[in-house]
Amino acid sequence: MSNHKSRLALVTGAAGTLGRAIVRQLVEDGHRVIATDLKAEPMADLVEELGDRVSTLGFDVSDPAAVEEACKRIATEHGPVEILVNNAGILSNNKAVETSPEEWRKVMSVNLDSAFYLSRLVLPAMREAGWGRIVNVCSLGIKTGGLTAGTAYASSKGGMGVLTFSLARETAAQGITVNGVAPGYVLTPMVTEQLTEAQRQELLQDIPVRRFCAAEEVAHLIAYLAGPHAGFITGEIVDINGGLHMD
Ligand SMILES: NC(=O)c1ccc[n+]([C@@H]2O[C@H](COP(=O)([O-])OP(=O)(O)OC[C@H]3O[C@@H](n4cnc5c(N)ncnc54)[C@H](O)[C@@H]3O)[C@@H](O)[C@H]2O)c1
Repeated sequence: MSNHKSRLALVTGAAGTLGRAIVRQLVEDGHRVIATDLKAEPMADLVEELGDRVSTLGFDVSDPAAVEEACKRIATEHGPVEILVNNAGILSNNKAVETSPEEWRKVMSVNLDSAFYLSRLVLPAMREAGWGRIVNVCSLGIKTGGLTAGTAYASSKGGMGVLTFSLARETAAQGITVNGVAPGYVLTPMVTEQLTEAQRQELLQDIPVRRFCAAEEVAHLIAYLAGPHAGFITGEIVDINGGLHMD
């Protein structure tokens, strides 16, 4: 346990590989965490592992009514959210010509709209408290246009980057920071299952550190941005890509 002040954190996509690592890290830092995903059941093991510092809740982050209901419930049962990690996301590797309008809308609504819906609902209490942290899980695709990732995915994450800048500017004077992380090729099913072996081998040749990123490395970065020592960082998207893209 660190000496961080205990805060209430809300993590979306917490049943996923990265989400689980984020929940574990925030708990290790002394926070209470509401772990959310489409369904609560797949996160039962997190509660078993981490005990009463974790509560789970299932709702669809792309549904504004469901997000509103969930936020009301969390506020009533647990109090105001002080740390929001917008991590839920879906991958689409289709480039523009192969992307249907329905797929575009779906990717945008899960990856981008959700961060807006949640942020607008947690910000009033953060403002009132004079302290808050929002961390948005963006992607290396913001800078590259998507090496293997498709057009809707890269565009949704690009939108999330600009949402980060906009919210950071809006809230900076109120003790709230809004930042993003831009991971490239974390060792998750997105990489292990959704890329071919040939794509993986080719990527490893291009990644200067010659390995994929561990979910725990991203989780540490997010926890740092959510922590007490990062108050002078806002409106920043931190790259974590093994040197694949340097700028
Ligand atoms: N894996 C990578 O290499 C990589 C790189 C850059 C960014 N990212 C981003 O990191 C985040 C986590 O990715 P991951 O690799 O852990 O993927 P993952 O698929 O393991 O986790 C994503 C989670 O989001 C949840 N989710 C999807 N749609 C949802 C919805 N409508 N409502 C609520 N929850 C929903 C899924 O159920 C899943 O548990 C994503 O935003 C992803 O785009 C991943």
